[in-house]
Parts: sequence; C-alpha cells; structure tokens
Amino acid sequence: MLPYSAVFALLLAFTAVAHDHPLYPWEITRLVVSGAPYRSEAACYDPLATIAVEIRDPNRYAGVNSSGSDMTQCITKFPYCGPPYNTRFNCTAIPYGNWTFSVSPDEGPDKAYWNVGQNFTLSLRLAIWERGIWFDGQARFSTWESLRGLCSAGGACSFSLREEMAPFLVHQREHM
Ligand SMILES: *[C@@H]1O[C@H](CO)[C@@H](O)[C@H](O)[C@H]1NC(C)=O
Ligand SMILES: *[C@@H]1O[C@H](CO)[C@@H](O)[C@H](O)[C@H]1NC(C)=O
Ligand SMILES: *[C@@H]1O[C@H](CO)[C@@H](O)[C@H](O)[C@H]1NC(C)=O
Ligand SMILES: *[C@@H]1O[C@H](CO)[C@@H](O)[C@H](O)[C@H]1NC(C)=O
Repeated sequence: MLPYSAVFALLLAFTAVAHDHPLYPWEITRLVVSGAPYRSEAACYDPLATIAVEIRDPNRYAGVNSSGSDMTQCITKFPYCGPPYNTRFNCTAIPYGNWTFSVSPDEGPDKAYWNVGQNFTLSLRLAIWERGIWFDGQARFSTWESLRGLCSAGGACSFSLREEMAPFLVHQREHM
C-alpha cells in the first residue's frame, strides 16, 4: 500500500497533466467585419461580407508541440441573405489540432440577414488531437462598444475591434 501522501501526490500529478493549469484566456488580437449592405435581390446570396479574426493562444499544452504564443486566423464570407449562422468553419491549420469557429446573431435582429455592423457572438473551439480534449469559448461583439467602423458613401462598410479593447480576452472551458 502506498502511503496516503504518495497517493495524493500521484493524483495531483495526473490532474496537472490533464488540465494544463493555469489556463490563460485566448486573446483576439484582430477582428474585422467588412462588406456592403443590401444592394439588390440579384446579389442577395453573394458572399460579399468578410469576417476575419486573429487569435493568439498563450497556453502550452502538455504532450504537444505548442509554443505558448500560437496564432490562428479564422476567416469566412457571409452573404446578406441566408447567412450561415452557427455553421462551423475552419481556421488556419495548427500542427497538433484544429481551430473552428461559428457566428451567431444576437436575439432580436432578423436572423434571415447579415448586416455588417450588427452585434454578434463568435464561438471558438480548439481541439487537441493527441489528448482527445477540446476547449470552447465565446465572445460577444457589439458595434460601438467593442467594434468601431464606418460605411463609405458608396456603401462599403468596415468594423474592427477597438484598439483599446485589444487583446479581447476569451475565457474558454475544457471538455474531454
Ligand atoms: C516543435 O515546433 C518547433 C517550432 O515550430 C519546431 O522547430 C520543432 O521541430 C518542433 N518539434 C517537434 C518535436 O515537432
Ligand atoms: C475543414 O477541415 C476539414 C478537415 O481538414 C475538411 O474535411 C473540411 O472540408 C474543411 N471545411 C471547409 C469548409 O473547408
Ligand atoms: C478537428 O478535430 C476534431 C478532434 O479530432 C475532429 O473531431 C474534427 O472533425 C476536426 N474538425 C475539422 C474541421 O477538421
Ligand atoms: C448592440 O449592442 C449594444 C450594446 O450591448 C446595444 O446597446 C445595441 O442596442 C445593440 N444593437 C442592436 C441592433 O441590437
């Protein structure tokens, strides 16, 4: 029989390996949404709006070659009509797992449309293959509060993360 303290030390060791404490929040270093507002029925389903997010992950994960400052970029295009809310898109590749993201609208606005400059929630997920774990985090962005931008007379709009809000921290939860 192992003494109680040895068992406790073993348990602690396993816990440390499983959870990689401390877990630092992800950092959104850049976020830009741009595009043109509704023009015509003909262009309604053309994916003319761009959503681009850059994330820095300050964590190192036991058992994989993570640097403690890995970056990924999450970019997709949305049409004005029938936007693919809650559809999971790929971010740029990392060697030890994958990042995916989705966008969902706030309650209230008509979910049939995507307006550049509307409030939205970004859902991020990081899977670590070797470990069979993943992390989920969500961040809500609202125009004027966390995003700033404008539309030109021609109708092209661009909103980006306010400088004083960057990096925007995203608290993630671990799943196994
Ligand atoms: C870990 O990553 C670094 C930087 O990308 C690379 O130089 C190194 O060869 C990698 N090591 C392993 C064991 O994959
Ligand atoms: C996302 O990545 C997966 C796995 O690499 C691939 O099968 C899938 O086609 C990709 N999705 C898109 C929309 O590129
Ligand atoms: C990302 O990795 C997870 C875990 O291995 C896997 O289930 C999922 O299909 C992968 N997604 C993509 C888009 O490659
Ligand atoms: C966007 O969010 C801000 C701050 O939470 C709120 O004041 C504003 O009414 C929202 N806009 C819309 C169109 O819901």
